[in-house]
Amino acid sequence: MGGASARVPAKINLHLGVGPLREDGYHELSTVFCALSLYDDVTVRADDYLSVTVTGDGRRDVPADRSNLAARAVFALAEYAGLPDANVAIEIAKQIPVAGGMAGGSADAAGALLAAARLWRLDIEREALMEIAATLGSDVPFALLGGAALGTNRGEKLLPMLHRGELHWVIVVAKGGLSTPAVYQELDRLRAGRGEAVPPPQRPDELMVALASGDVHAVAPLLHNDLQPAALSLQPLLRRTLRAGKEAGALAGIVSGSGPTCVFLCHDEDASIAVAAELSGLGVAKAVRTAHGPVPGARLTPMH
Ligand code: C5P
Repeated sequence: MGGASARVPAKINLHLGVGPLREDGYHELSTVFCALSLYDDVTVRADDYLSVTVTGDGRRDVPADRSNLAARAVFALAEYAGLPDANVAIEIAKQIPVAGGMAGGSADAAGALLAAARLWRLDIEREALMEIAATLGSDVPFALLGGAALGTNRGEKLLPMLHRGELHWVIVVAKGGLSTPAVYQELDRLRAGRGEAVPPPQRPDELMVALASGDVHAVAPLLHNDLQPAALSLQPLLRRTLRAGKEAGALAGIVSGSGPTCVFLCHDEDASIAVAAELSGLGVAKAVRTAHGPVPGARLTPMH
């Protein structure tokens, strides 16, 4: 029986502009995605029934059944291809923090799509794969695309962006997780409390120019996340983490997506290693890692 594996990067949002709540329960976004060198590996093998096995960090917090986003991806692909069943054994080896605002579940869905398409030898266009990805979650298309991209609508409409050089990051994984819908709801609550009308999100032109220039000092002051006040409201201790990262020498730090992971941009790789060492010693986090990006999106790999 055959199998196939895919490796998929985590994402962070260098800019996350959130518009008003829409009728469909989503928010209009204008976001700059960046794929980072922190990966989940997804392997699918032909089997008599569907199963999901998760190994690595946070495995106990990932559902190992049909509700897993990777399993839903395999079902969606089988349905698209008109296959009678989607019976595969899915193995997910996690490095991406679970419920951390780095699109770990979306990465697993993207990996399952790629690997299952190879396993079943489907001749499927990239465009069609991206459409199936968008039905699974707002961040799944970007997990396939990778690099740096402007995301609009729910975040699933993507425009690849020019970028030069590598940015070096420290990733601080918080002790708990945060639910993405809960963080969006908290943002709506905070905004309602202020009683102001919420404008549509603006395209971050300055950041796009800075990324194309490859100048880390131009990028650093432009990092922005509209969800950050909501994540901080739900986990006030993150303020301490953000302060500690700056004090340790990072150029800038933000909450990643809906959090609670915080990411810190550093001058270069050596600086990121020094900042990570300092933050590790403080005991504010579950784990501290370094990563670089933008890196390419999901790709097939030799079987694990
Ligand atoms: O698309 P996804 O399933 O990843 O979204 C999870 C939840 O995050 C949504 O149900 C919604 O509550 C919130 N969300 C949002 N606006 C977006 C993307 C996600 O409100 N653009």
